[in-house]
Amino acid sequence: MKALIVGYCPRGERSRTRQLADHAAGFLRSKKIAVELLDLAKDIPDLLTPDRLSSYYRRSYMGEKLAGKDLAQLKKMDQMTDQLMAVDLVVVAYPMYNFSQPAIIKAWFDSVMQKGKTWDLAQGGYAGLMKGRKALVITTSGGSYDGEMAFLEHSASLSKVHLGFMGYDTKVVTGAGINRYPEKEGEILAKARAEIQEALGAFIG
Ligand SMILES: Cc1cc2nc3c(=O)[nH]c(=O)nc-3n(C[C@H](O)[C@H](O)[C@H](O)COP(=O)(O)O)c2cc1C
Repeated sequence: MKALIVGYCPRGERSRTRQLADHAAGFLRSKKIAVELLDLAKDIPDLLTPDRLSSYYRRSYMGEKLAGKDLAQLKKMDQMTDQLMAVDLVVVAYPMYNFSQPAIIKAWFDSVMQKGKTWDLAQGGYAGLMKGRKALVITTSGGSYDGEMAFLEHSASLSKVHLGFMGYDTKVVTGAGINRYPEKEGEILAKARAEIQEALGAFIG
């Protein structure tokens, strides 16, 4: 089994999310699973700008064979997609920004959610081509979004939709409320670490 950890934790060493992602990496390595890291703070995904979107559409929807500049501008999106498709387990780790994923995480999903590679059209609907693979979303947030605040949560829930659309069996671990309840930070992170081990343990069997 091979794993990929995709992280966007721009506060580096100070990032609580990064601590949780490192915990996931350590746990997987302790189980002799090869772990590759994609640090999106250093390797920023390309965006679906008009030219790039046009190339993607012509290739992946219209079946055109691209060359030269048209193909070159899909290179980074294709590399990120190939990297994801090469592993059985993906961990996506990031903090909540403005009730959602940081834009760089969304750009990574826009890069890898490619028709014909990770999902496809099928008999009047959609098929996730990553069926049988596992995904764990790790997020932290300043506030917590339980009960009547749940309608504000578009961060982990959005990743769950993206990964589910591609066919992944997805679990989520959230370290929520760490700014709102600073005295509980240690407790919140310890609980998240335990949940990460439980989720990954269940995935790897
Ligand atoms: C730009 C920005 C936007 C944020 N937006 C939210 C938000 O909408 N809701 C929330 O609960 N926390 C929000 N936070 C707080 C972070 O999610 C929280 O502090 C998180 O734990 C930071 O993770 P880190 O320690 O890994 O950097 C925001 C933080 C930043 C920097």
